Amino acid sequence: MKRIAVLTSGGDAPGMNAAIRAVVRSATFHGIEVVGVRRGFQGLHEGDMRLLGPRDVANIIQRGGTILLTARSHTWRSPEGRTLGANHLKAWGVQGLVVIGGDGSFHGAHYLQQEHGIPVIGVPGTIDNDLYGTDHTIGYFTAVETALDAVDKLRDTAASHERIFVVEVMGRHAGHIALDVAVAGGAEEVFLPEDEHPAEHIAEVVRSSASKGKASSILIVAEGYPGGGAAVTAAIEAQTGLDTRLTVLGHIQRGGSPVSSDRVLASRLGEAAVLALIDGKSDLMVGRGLGGMTFTPLNETWEKRKDVSRDLYRCAKTLSV
Ligand code: F6P
Repeated sequence: MKRIAVLTSGGDAPGMNAAIRAVVRSATFHGIEVVGVRRGFQGLHEGDMRLLGPRDVANIIQRGGTILLTARSHTWRSPEGRTLGANHLKAWGVQGLVVIGGDGSFHGAHYLQQEHGIPVIGVPGTIDNDLYGTDHTIGYFTAVETALDAVDKLRDTAASHERIFVVEVMGRHAGHIALDVAVAGGAEEVFLPEDEHPAEHIAEVVRSSASKGKASSILIVAEGYPGGGAAVTAAIEAQTGLDTRLTVLGHIQRGGSPVSSDRVLASRLGEAAVLALIDGKSDLMVGRGLGGMTFTPLNETWEKRKDVSRDLYRCAKTLSV
């Protein structure tokens, strides 16, 4: 293997740069050149590529975002778009592709391999932590820290005003960020996309907090919960008449310098992706579990569901007594 390519695709996640660095440096270590593709599959379709050496990825391990830029590509959804991209890769002499992203990006990688026989390895990079086949995804730890910092600050003002605060966190259809933030932030309740609660139950959470002597409450809502934070806030106000404030944390959760766990994970997975291509592996995602590095067929990463920990949810309920 003489040359591989790397791209980042979908929503950016803190630690993607650390993963790019790991791919470029480990490939260089093994005598392989790396082509960086800009703007994900959109750049691949347009042939927006350039060689990346080990010095090109200096000083990026601590930076959020992605130096390669990213996009949610529509052209890539058509077979013609993918053929154009595959032709660019072949013209550049690329013999394998590392795709850093989430399930949408892995769909693109999977079809590229199926239709054009280009070896692909996926590296899980998304704050949502919603990919089956890895305990954690790159960016998740940092997003949780960012959201937690906001919750800690909101608790100060919630306590001072004896108010109820509803905080909506990201995570798309999954509740991983919400559950970890709820436990670490000592929230009174967490609303996960996995479980819908009737309005009466939501009001009951607030009433029972008050009856236990809690003057203020923090409720964490995953954005994928039906109706999101706005629905929970409206249900509380309609059912209890209590003054309630909603904070939607939004894209702030995607930014910032990656925490050490994300940098280490990205470094390990980036290197593992290159080693996998050298070993002739393809159409797989590299991940990390308790037993070490794992390989999961790309299609399973989105077809199988990684559920939130029910035991952690039980723990959250117990500790909010
Ligand atoms: O997948 C990462 C994520 O930040 C989700 O948590 C969120 O639902 C989505 O991307 C937002 O996407 P966009 O940046 O396109 O608005």
